[in-house]
Amino acid sequence: MKKHIVVIAGDGIGQEVTTVGKQVLDRVAEKFGHEFTYDEALIGHAAIEATGNPLPEETVTKSKQSDAILFGAVGHPKYDNDPSAKVRPEQGLLGIRKALGLYANLRPIKLFDELLQASSIKPEFLQGADILFFRELTGDVYFGEKGRKDEGDTAYDLMIYSRYEVERIAVKAFEAAMTRRKKLCSVDKANVLESSRLWREVVQEVAKRYPEVEVEHQFIDAAAMLLIKDPRRFDVVVTGNLFGDILTDEASQIAGSMGMLASASIGDTTGLYEPIHGSAHDITGKGVANPLASVLSAALMLEISFGLKAEAEAVVNAVDQVLKAGYRTRDIANATTPADRILGTQAMGEQLLSKL
Ligand code: NAI
Ligand code: MG
Repeated sequence: MKKHIVVIAGDGIGQEVTTVGKQVLDRVAEKFGHEFTYDEALIGHAAIEATGNPLPEETVTKSKQSDAILFGAVGHPKYDNDPSAKVRPEQGLLGIRKALGLYANLRPIKLFDELLQASSIKPEFLQGADILFFRELTGDVYFGEKGRKDEGDTAYDLMIYSRYEVERIAVKAFEAAMTRRKKLCSVDKANVLESSRLWREVVQEVAKRYPEVEVEHQFIDAAAMLLIKDPRRFDVVVTGNLFGDILTDEASQIAGSMGMLASASIGDTTGLYEPIHGSAHDITGKGVANPLASVLSAALMLEISFGLKAEAEAVVNAVDQVLKAGYRTRDIANATTPADRILGTQAMGEQLLSKL
């Protein structure tokens, strides 16, 4: 199979982990007889430095012509500490999601057995946890009207959803639930927010088309609590952009680390695959970032965009084997991990390639 992949590594550890993700794709192509061609494109801080624009037009054009995108992360401390900066790396990420119509962000939370001890949650509450989040990705406060008034002393971000936007993500989530344990939890704040009342109304309507799926509605605050109290009660979770952003960082503790969680952003055209974590300035350049989220994102690309199920499974199995062999990056190691089993980003990548 011939596929064209655009690599947008972005900033910070985005560069480090995406290198490994791409090496894994290369090995898969070699092993299974596929031909993957690559192109690179700029985004975020790197793009601002080079062009003044966090999302150069060329990046959008290349992305639209690709079969899939392997994405790293955006962000730089320079902007985090300067709230007044008008041009920001995150505009690149939000911009590409919007430009490509990537409205559904799938975030599978899967705990590898070997990492039961890496989580701060007690193993007996974790074992068997397997959740698939559907985070809406092109609406909500992230894209609603925002601004300042009263000479800058009042600020606002409009939380806005249309029926159409809720319906299309709900349909994707119900379809996925039908292929899993047929349970769906919709998360909103319908007791307070009008946009959430529309969200709930639309999910209830869509639910009528899927009578086999057991549906529950939770408020975001309760959902955040239940996720840690009893993660196994969840199968598919569907929620808005902001709530999904926050809940899935929380859910990363179920999988052991932010460095383990992959995501797929899909819409009507090409798909974008990225770790859920950011550019992690605190560890950038140290060579210690966990590349597995990027590798697992590449596996999602193989499965979802290319329909290469066996290839995707081979990648996930390689991750499993590396973990079974006791290898850990720092974020998933603990006090009992022998020092010679704690690897840096590239060494972890080499172990993976050898298993593949
Ligand atoms: P972050 O996700 O970059 O890091 C949070 C914590 O998790 C840090 O302690 C970091 O060291 C750790 N971590 C993250 N990924 C890891 C990995 N692969 N291996 C080991 N440890 C890992 O979030 P933070 O620190 O809040 O934000 C840093 C920058 O990233 C900011 O500029 C932010 O705007 C940006 N950001 C970008 C995102 C994206 O590109 N999708 C998502 C979230 C934040
Ligand atoms: Mg986030």
